[in-house]
Amino acid sequence: MSSALRFFATAAKGTEGALRDELRGLRLPSVRADRGGVHFEGTLADGMRACLHSRVAMRVQLELGRFPAGDERALYDGVRSLGWDEHVTPRHTLAVSATCRSSRLTHSQFIALKTKDAIVDAQRDLHGRRPSVDTRDPDVDVIVRLVKDEATLYLDLAGDALHRRGYRVATVEAVMKETLAAAALRLAGWDGTADLLDPMCGSGTFAIEAALIACRVAPGLRRRFGFERWPAFDRTAQGQWEALLDEANARILAQSPVRIEASDVSPAAVDATRQNLAAAGIAGAVTVRQRDARTLGPDDGPCWVVADPPYGDRLTAQPLQLAGFVQQWSAAVKSMRGSTVVVVSGNPLLQRNVRLAPDFEHTLFNGDIECRLLRYRVDARPMQPERA
Ligand SMILES: C[S@@+](CC[C@H](N)C(=O)[O-])C[C@H]1O[C@@H](n2cnc3c(N)ncnc32)[C@H](O)[C@@H]1O
Repeated sequence: MSSALRFFATAAKGTEGALRDELRGLRLPSVRADRGGVHFEGTLADGMRACLHSRVAMRVQLELGRFPAGDERALYDGVRSLGWDEHVTPRHTLAVSATCRSSRLTHSQFIALKTKDAIVDAQRDLHGRRPSVDTRDPDVDVIVRLVKDEATLYLDLAGDALHRRGYRVATVEAVMKETLAAAALRLAGWDGTADLLDPMCGSGTFAIEAALIACRVAPGLRRRFGFERWPAFDRTAQGQWEALLDEANARILAQSPVRIEASDVSPAAVDATRQNLAAAGIAGAVTVRQRDARTLGPDDGPCWVVADPPYGDRLTAQPLQLAGFVQQWSAAVKSMRGSTVVVVSGNPLLQRNVRLAPDFEHTLFNGDIECRLLRYRVDARPMQPERA
């Protein structure tokens, strides 16, 4: 592959800025945020490095080319002209997915089908055989994006989406995506150098992501990637990949330099968190226990408290019960002088009932759910007795 490749790393809505900063921190070239993700350029090794180290990206995609595709013929011819031999062979399986917006071709399934036809026809003409389609577990994942009659073709480096780090072996309800938890920590300003408490840990996502950051564990170390099955993943690429893995393994700290605790009132959540921590290989980095978050007190701080409190379905959640819970919990964290409290919630009720004023607010999306990220600072000075 040539050395000036173009990549697009996708991000959950509202986390594009966090991903841009993260990719800049990885010293990837020509990083630029856009709607839905971040562009960067570099070599295949740079793309692999982004997959291995990005905590925020959902996918990393290699751009193969762009061309006008105002109709079916132009799409088919444009796809065929891209020179697929480097990317797929009859021995590989293939899947194609498509999105479209503001274009004359309006059916994404039809766009995907035409693209697939063009790729397999090109292979059949060349080799007399064609690659098979496997929509569940393809070797090569092709993505077509059609915007204003211009098609852009990508290969997905990730395979399984990047939030699947490989450690989530147990879940309880309402889990947060790993990528979103990492983005929230970064947006709020937690950088792995302060103690952290996840007092409503569920399956432990905040605490585990925090421990991976603190111990400098690359998020992709415990999984496989789509690019490992590509024809372009030749000996050279494999050597580069192994060097990246060695380098990432060498950076891992044996112990967390900060105190990280996860707790939940539910025994099932405590158990799930323990299992996930073990699967992540960092069981010793987080203290896990069963505890009601409303029992937090002055001795638990100062530290960062990071939580996505229960909010249930926005329509069916019992407002009074939730409001009362949040008021009690915020009174508890308010006693933790000098602490920073970060809350991610899709329920506006929560914000109204936290008895603190946020010093930072940001909107991000957990799937389709619009969430607020709120950061509060608890005054370090002792509380004054209230006047009658
Ligand atoms: C939205 S979930 C957290 C999800 C978690 N961040 C994850 O990714 O899995 C909210 C959690 O709050 C816990 N919870 C509810 N009431 C609690 C309380 N009083 N004290 C501590 N945890 C509580 C629930 O058991 C649930 O696991």
